[in-house]
Amino acid sequence: MEDGSKQAEVRSWLAAAVRQRAGLCVLTGAGMSAESGIPTFRDALTGYWAQFDPMALASEPGFRTHPQRVWDWYAERRAGVRAAEPHAGHRALADFARRHPGVLTLVTQNVDDLHQRAGNVDTLRLHGDILDDLWLDPCARQVRGGKVCDPAWAEAGCPPACRECGNLVRPGVVWFGEHLPLRALDAAQRAAGQCALMLVVGTSGAVWPAAGLAGQARAAGAKVVVLNPAPSELDGTAHLVLRGTAACTLPALLA
Ligand code: APR
Repeated sequence: MEDGSKQAEVRSWLAAAVRQRAGLCVLTGAGMSAESGIPTFRDALTGYWAQFDPMALASEPGFRTHPQRVWDWYAERRAGVRAAEPHAGHRALADFARRHPGVLTLVTQNVDDLHQRAGNVDTLRLHGDILDDLWLDPCARQVRGGKVCDPAWAEAGCPPACRECGNLVRPGVVWFGEHLPLRALDAAQRAAGQCALMLVVGTSGAVWPAAGLAGQARAAGAKVVVLNPAPSELDGTAHLVLRGTAACTLPALLA
Protein backbone atom coordinates (compact mmCIF):
# COMPACT_ATOMS: atom_id res chain seq x y z
CA MET A 1 0.00 0.00 0.00
CA GLU A 2 1.69 3.20 -1.08
CA ASP A 3 1.67 6.27 1.10
CA GLY A 4 -1.23 7.99 -0.68
CA SER A 5 -3.65 5.19 0.11
CA LYS A 6 -2.10 4.77 3.58
CA GLN A 7 -2.83 8.44 4.29
CA ALA A 8 -6.40 7.96 3.01
CA GLU A 9 -6.79 4.97 5.35
CA VAL A 10 -5.53 6.99 8.31
CA ARG A 11 -7.83 9.89 7.42
CA SER A 12 -10.79 7.48 7.40
CA TRP A 13 -9.82 6.21 10.88
CA LEU A 14 -9.48 9.80 12.02
CA ALA A 15 -12.90 10.78 10.58
CA ALA A 16 -14.46 7.80 12.40
CA ALA A 17 -12.81 8.81 15.68
CA VAL A 18 -14.17 12.35 15.29
CA ARG A 19 -17.68 11.16 14.29
CA GLN A 20 -17.87 8.77 17.23
CA ARG A 21 -16.25 11.42 19.46
CA ALA A 22 -13.80 8.66 20.32
CA GLY A 23 -10.35 9.93 21.27
CA LEU A 24 -7.35 10.73 19.14
CA CYS A 25 -4.12 10.43 21.12
CA VAL A 26 -0.99 11.89 19.54
CA LEU A 27 2.44 11.10 21.01
CA THR A 28 5.28 13.29 19.75
CA GLY A 29 9.04 13.02 20.06
CA ALA A 30 12.03 15.07 19.02
CA GLY A 31 11.29 14.54 15.31
CA MET A 32 8.24 16.77 15.81
CA SER A 33 10.60 19.71 16.45
CA ALA A 34 13.27 18.84 13.86
CA GLU A 35 11.72 20.95 11.07
CA SER A 36 11.60 23.89 13.48
CA GLY A 37 15.38 23.69 13.68
CA ILE A 38 15.68 21.94 17.05
CA PRO A 39 17.98 18.93 16.56
CA THR A 40 16.59 15.58 17.69
CA PHE A 41 17.97 14.36 20.96
CA ARG A 42 20.28 11.86 19.35
CA ASP A 43 21.44 14.42 16.77
CA ALA A 44 21.75 17.25 19.32
CA LEU A 45 25.28 16.33 20.36
CA THR A 46 27.20 17.99 17.58
CA GLY A 47 30.29 20.18 17.62
CA TYR A 48 31.72 20.82 21.10
CA TRP A 49 29.05 18.64 22.72
CA ALA A 50 29.77 15.61 20.53
CA GLN A 51 32.56 14.63 22.95
CA PHE A 52 30.09 14.05 25.78
CA ASP A 53 27.68 11.23 26.53
CA PRO A 54 24.09 12.61 26.52
CA MET A 55 23.21 10.25 29.37
CA ALA A 56 25.88 11.98 31.46
CA LEU A 57 24.90 15.52 30.50
CA ALA A 58 21.17 14.87 31.03
CA SER A 59 21.46 13.38 34.51
CA GLU A 60 21.61 14.57 38.12
CA PRO A 61 25.03 12.94 38.77
CA GLY A 62 26.31 14.61 35.59
CA PHE A 63 25.02 17.99 36.76
CA ARG A 64 26.43 17.57 40.28
CA THR A 65 29.83 16.57 38.85
CA HIS A 66 30.02 19.29 36.18
CA PRO A 67 27.33 21.89 36.97
CA GLN A 68 28.73 24.58 34.68
CA ARG A 69 29.17 22.21 31.68
CA VAL A 70 25.63 20.84 32.00
CA TRP A 71 24.17 24.31 32.63
CA ASP A 72 25.96 25.66 29.52
CA TRP A 73 24.56 22.78 27.41
CA TYR A 74 21.02 23.55 28.55
CA ALA A 75 21.55 27.30 28.09
CA GLU A 76 22.55 26.64 24.47
CA ARG A 77 19.52 24.38 23.94
CA ARG A 78 17.23 26.96 25.58
CA ALA A 79 18.47 29.61 23.17
CA GLY A 80 17.69 27.23 20.28
CA VAL A 81 14.16 26.66 21.61
CA ARG A 82 13.51 30.39 22.02
CA ALA A 83 14.76 31.02 18.44
CA ALA A 84 12.59 28.25 16.98
CA GLU A 85 9.05 28.68 15.65
CA PRO A 86 6.22 26.11 15.49
CA HIS A 87 5.81 24.68 11.98
CA ALA A 88 2.78 23.62 9.91
CA GLY A 89 2.58 20.31 11.76
CA HIS A 90 2.31 22.02 15.16
CA ARG A 91 -0.31 24.40 13.75
CA ALA A 92 -2.27 21.49 12.22
CA LEU A 93 -2.54 19.85 15.66
CA ALA A 94 -3.67 23.11 17.25
CA ASP A 95 -6.23 23.71 14.47
CA PHE A 96 -7.56 20.17 14.91
CA ALA A 97 -7.99 20.71 18.67
CA ARG A 98 -9.87 23.96 17.99
CA ARG A 99 -12.18 22.35 15.40
CA HIS A 100 -12.86 19.23 17.49
CA PRO A 101 -12.81 20.20 21.18
CA GLY A 102 -12.27 17.29 23.55
CA VAL A 103 -11.15 14.76 20.89
CA LEU A 104 -7.35 15.23 20.94
CA THR A 105 -5.02 14.32 23.79
CA LEU A 106 -1.54 15.54 22.88
CA VAL A 107 1.33 13.87 24.73
CA THR A 108 4.92 14.95 24.15
CA GLN A 109 8.36 13.74 25.15
CA ASN A 110 9.74 17.08 23.99
CA VAL A 111 10.92 19.69 26.46
CA ASP A 112 10.47 22.62 24.09
CA ASP A 113 7.31 24.76 24.06
CA LEU A 114 6.43 24.57 20.35
CA HIS A 115 3.12 22.70 20.82
CA GLN A 116 2.08 25.22 23.48
CA ARG A 117 3.09 28.21 21.36
CA ALA A 118 1.12 26.76 18.42
CA GLY A 119 -1.98 26.65 20.66
CA ASN A 120 -2.04 23.18 22.31
CA VAL A 121 -1.66 24.68 25.78
CA ASP A 122 -2.86 21.50 27.54
CA THR A 123 -0.16 19.30 26.04
CA LEU A 124 0.90 16.57 28.47
CA ARG A 125 4.66 16.96 29.05
CA LEU A 126 6.22 13.60 29.99
CA HIS A 127 9.83 14.83 30.16
CA GLY A 128 9.37 18.33 31.61
CA ASP A 129 10.06 21.83 30.37
CA ILE A 130 13.56 23.00 29.36
CA LEU A 131 12.58 26.64 29.94
CA ASP A 132 11.59 25.98 33.56
CA ASP A 133 13.99 26.45 36.52
CA LEU A 134 13.93 24.22 39.60
CA TRP A 135 16.12 23.93 42.70
CA LEU A 136 18.60 21.04 42.62
CA ASP A 137 18.13 20.35 46.37
CA PRO A 138 15.18 20.97 48.74
CA CYS A 139 14.99 24.67 49.58
CA ALA A 140 16.51 25.23 53.04
CA ARG A 141 13.98 27.97 53.84
CA GLN A 142 11.04 25.66 52.88
CA VAL A 143 12.56 22.81 54.96
CA ARG A 144 12.45 25.18 57.95
CA GLY A 145 8.75 25.75 57.26
CA GLY A 146 9.22 29.00 55.35
CA LYS A 147 8.17 29.93 51.84
CA VAL A 148 10.31 28.30 49.14
CA CYS A 149 12.76 30.68 47.49
CA ASP A 150 12.01 31.57 43.88
CA PRO A 151 14.78 30.31 41.53
CA ALA A 152 14.24 33.51 39.54
CA TRP A 153 15.79 35.45 42.47
CA ALA A 154 18.93 33.28 42.40
CA GLU A 155 22.32 34.90 42.07
CA ALA A 156 23.21 35.01 38.34
CA GLY A 157 25.77 32.39 37.37
CA CYS A 158 26.38 29.18 35.43
CA PRO A 159 24.36 27.72 37.09
CA PRO A 160 22.58 30.38 39.17
CA ALA A 161 22.66 29.70 42.93
CA CYS A 162 20.55 30.74 45.91
CA ARG A 163 21.95 33.90 47.53
CA GLU A 164 21.07 32.52 50.97
CA CYS A 165 22.17 28.84 50.96
CA GLY A 166 23.96 28.21 47.66
CA ASN A 167 21.32 25.78 46.34
CA LEU A 168 21.88 25.37 42.58
CA VAL A 169 19.25 26.06 39.92
CA ARG A 170 18.66 23.18 37.47
CA PRO A 171 16.52 22.96 34.30
CA GLY A 172 12.97 21.64 34.78
CA VAL A 173 13.49 18.56 32.60
CA VAL A 174 13.24 14.88 33.60
CA TRP A 175 16.81 13.56 33.65
CA PHE A 176 17.79 9.96 32.97
CA GLY A 177 17.10 7.98 36.11
CA GLU A 178 14.40 10.38 37.34
CA HIS A 179 10.67 9.67 37.59
CA LEU A 180 8.25 11.13 35.07
CA PRO A 181 5.61 13.56 36.38
CA LEU A 182 2.92 11.15 37.62
CA ARG A 183 -0.10 13.32 36.77
CA ALA A 184 1.02 13.71 33.14
CA LEU A 185 1.92 10.03 32.82
CA ASP A 186 -1.40 8.87 34.32
CA ALA A 187 -3.34 11.16 31.97
CA ALA A 188 -1.30 9.93 28.99
CA GLN A 189 -1.86 6.28 29.90
CA ARG A 190 -5.60 6.91 30.36
CA ALA A 191 -5.77 8.55 26.91
CA ALA A 192 -3.81 5.69 25.35
CA GLY A 193 -6.22 3.16 26.91
CA GLN A 194 -9.35 4.99 25.74
CA CYS A 195 -8.48 6.41 22.31
CA ALA A 196 -9.75 5.03 19.00
CA LEU A 197 -6.62 6.15 17.15
CA MET A 198 -3.06 6.76 18.33
CA LEU A 199 -0.70 8.72 16.08
CA VAL A 200 2.99 8.44 17.02
CA VAL A 201 5.02 11.26 15.46
CA GLY A 202 8.79 11.67 15.38
CA THR A 203 10.01 9.34 18.08
CA SER A 204 12.55 6.55 17.94
CA GLY A 205 10.54 4.71 20.61
CA ALA A 206 13.79 4.11 22.47
CA VAL A 207 12.77 5.58 25.84
CA TRP A 208 10.21 4.10 28.22
CA PRO A 209 7.61 4.48 29.65
CA ALA A 210 6.66 6.96 26.88
CA ALA A 211 7.37 4.35 24.21
CA GLY A 212 4.97 1.94 25.95
CA LEU A 213 1.94 4.14 25.22
CA ALA A 214 1.65 2.85 21.64
CA GLY A 215 1.49 -0.78 22.80
CA GLN A 216 -1.04 0.17 25.48
CA ALA A 217 -3.26 1.82 22.87
CA ARG A 218 -3.05 -1.17 20.55
CA ALA A 219 -3.80 -3.60 23.38
CA ALA A 220 -6.88 -1.53 24.24
CA GLY A 221 -8.17 -1.82 20.67
CA ALA A 222 -7.00 1.46 19.12
CA LYS A 223 -5.58 1.77 15.63
CA VAL A 224 -1.91 2.77 15.89
CA VAL A 225 -0.15 4.79 13.20
CA VAL A 226 3.54 5.74 13.18
CA LEU A 227 4.69 8.83 11.27
CA ASN A 228 8.46 8.86 10.85
CA PRO A 229 10.81 9.31 7.86
CA ALA A 230 12.97 6.48 9.21
CA PRO A 231 12.32 3.08 10.83
CA SER A 232 11.60 3.25 14.57
CA GLU A 233 11.23 0.77 17.42
CA LEU A 234 7.47 1.33 17.30
CA ASP A 235 6.97 0.36 13.64
CA GLY A 236 6.18 -3.22 14.71
CA THR A 237 3.42 -1.98 17.05
CA ALA A 238 1.71 0.07 14.34
CA HIS A 239 -1.15 -1.01 12.08
CA LEU A 240 0.24 1.48 9.52
CA VAL A 241 3.60 3.24 9.14
CA LEU A 242 3.72 6.50 7.19
CA ARG A 243 7.15 7.42 5.88
CA GLY A 244 6.93 11.20 6.05
CA THR A 245 7.79 14.20 8.17
CA ALA A 246 5.79 16.04 10.81
CA ALA A 247 5.65 19.39 9.00
CA CYS A 248 4.62 17.90 5.65
CA THR A 249 2.40 14.93 6.50
CA LEU A 250 0.51 16.09 9.61
CA PRO A 251 -1.27 18.97 7.82
CA ALA A 252 -2.42 16.55 5.10
CA LEU A 253 -3.68 14.04 7.66
CA LEU A 254 -5.45 16.50 9.97
CA ALA A 255 -6.89 18.99 7.46
N1 APR B 1 9.47 14.36 11.19
C1 APR B 1 9.16 13.25 11.92
N2 APR B 1 10.08 12.47 12.53
C2 APR B 1 11.38 12.82 12.39
C3 APR B 1 11.79 13.96 11.66
C4 APR B 1 10.77 14.73 11.04
N3 APR B 1 11.09 15.82 10.30
N4 APR B 1 13.16 14.03 11.71
C5 APR B 1 13.57 12.99 12.46
N5 APR B 1 12.52 12.26 12.87
C6 APR B 1 12.51 11.06 13.72
C7 APR B 1 13.78 10.24 13.67
O1 APR B 1 13.71 9.30 12.58
C8 APR B 1 13.75 9.54 15.03
O2 APR B 1 13.03 8.32 14.94
O3 APR B 1 12.44 11.52 15.07
C9 APR B 1 12.98 10.51 15.92
C10 APR B 1 13.83 11.19 16.97
O4 APR B 1 14.28 10.19 17.84
P1 APR B 1 15.13 10.61 19.15
O5 APR B 1 16.21 11.57 18.75
O6 APR B 1 15.47 9.32 19.83
O7 APR B 1 14.12 11.44 20.03
P2 APR B 1 12.95 10.85 20.92
O8 APR B 1 12.39 9.61 20.34
O9 APR B 1 12.00 11.97 21.18
O10 APR B 1 13.70 10.51 22.29
C11 APR B 1 12.88 10.20 23.37
O11 APR B 1 14.68 10.20 24.91
O12 APR B 1 16.55 11.19 24.74
C12 APR B 1 15.47 11.13 25.56
O13 APR B 1 14.24 12.62 26.90
C13 APR B 1 14.78 12.43 25.61
O14 APR B 1 12.51 12.97 25.05
C14 APR B 1 13.67 12.27 24.60
C15 APR B 1 13.43 10.79 24.63
